[in-house]
Amino acid sequence: MDRIRIVGGRPLSGRIPISGAKNATLPLMIASLLTNETLILDNVPRLADVALLQRILGNHGVDVMIGGKRPGDGAYQGQTLHISAADIVDTTAPYELVSRMRASFWVIAPLLARMGEARVSMPGGCAIGTRPVDLLIMALERLGASIEIDGGYVLARAPNGLRGGEIVFPKVTVGGTHTALMAASLARGMTVIENAAREPEVGDVADCLNKMGARIEGAGSSRIVVEGVARLGGARHTVLPDRIETGTYAMAAAMASGDVLLENTRPELLQSALDVLTQAGARISATNEGIRVQRDGAALRPVEVTTAPFPGFPTDLQAQLMSLMTRAQGTSRITETIFENRFMHVQELARLGARIHLDGETATIEGVERLKGAPVMATDLRASVSLVIAALAAEGETIVNRVYHLDRGFERLEQKLAGCGAEIERLTG
Ligand code: UD1
Repeated sequence: MDRIRIVGGRPLSGRIPISGAKNATLPLMIASLLTNETLILDNVPRLADVALLQRILGNHGVDVMIGGKRPGDGAYQGQTLHISAADIVDTTAPYELVSRMRASFWVIAPLLARMGEARVSMPGGCAIGTRPVDLLIMALERLGASIEIDGGYVLARAPNGLRGGEIVFPKVTVGGTHTALMAASLARGMTVIENAAREPEVGDVADCLNKMGARIEGAGSSRIVVEGVARLGGARHTVLPDRIETGTYAMAAAMASGDVLLENTRPELLQSALDVLTQAGARISATNEGIRVQRDGAALRPVEVTTAPFPGFPTDLQAQLMSLMTRAQGTSRITETIFENRFMHVQELARLGARIHLDGETATIEGVERLKGAPVMATDLRASVSLVIAALAAEGETIVNRVYHLDRGFERLEQKLAGCGAEIERLTG
């Protein structure tokens, strides 16, 4: 198993190209199931999750062709996927595949909308707490689907097609909003989605669906209106920049100090996180090329942050911020409201010398003078990258084990950081 070795203490300076968003790429690939024509996606990141979803879609009969590199393409240029779901050969998504990536449950919506039925395994447990699918099922029922749960599978049927309806989410859910949008696009009549997720990835998926012929209005706000159409066609779409990758490197730069330009990304995708970084003492500026993050040697200031749906502070940056605050001068408080149990990084950060006290959903972080390198292990994607951030400021060597978590969501992390002067390498085997 690969590991990452980091020797802390070096400032970061240079440019980091930001990849396309994983959390937009996955639903966009799934949206290909809605049409028998080809969907072309540009700026797709090279990630283990993308490869896995390709396999999952392959099981339904979807062909994915990856465009080759063109002359002049940079090392970090995203890939182009040509995805064709001309023939759907199987409407079952088996446990062995769905259990490896939760988002693959979302295939239920396009399969049901286009084929009139879908049989998808319940995703099962997850390292960051219980993540139910009750609201996704509720949304499909509101559009006329009949649902049965049998042997760990959700069987959804709508033999005469879906029909528009009103979906009111009692809680903001990104996956629920994606599935509602995809299903409503091919339903007969109008659907109104209330309390929809406003995450930029929802807007990106809606843009792509509209290019495919859907009629969606209001994506990006909490009320989305969809006028169903009889069929959708092919389209070409560029995946938006990854705001979580952007925020992660912004925190890395703030942690290590230095001067880093995050290329091909936009501040409005993560304004709340950038505001927190400014409060903590980083200098953030928007340029034509991206976002510049600077920090001189002055001490970091503590912050109080509560995670919330967009435009609030994202739960996917909570672990990274906690790493940063381990070195602040004073006591910070971070409250996690989206996922229970999303604090597995705490005990690993403690191995590096962090002082963190957990009380329910709130972590109190007492900044320390120094962190010290140690072997650590990560249990999920965002937790593992928080250990890398801590290691950048720790004295001596840190070895991060179980790097496969990182590879699920961060493209060439060690190369991007090494390019800015970090002492970081991958140890293979
Ligand atoms: C997506 C993101 C994930 C991010 C999360 C919150 C992708 C691939 N993943 O996950 O990185 O951390 O949004 O921004 O885009 N809930 C229910 N019932 C449901 C569905 C959700 O109770 O049927 C709850 C969840 O337990 C959680 C909250 O709603 O407490 C939000 O979850 P949701 O927004 O659905 O997360 P995902 O779409 O799974």
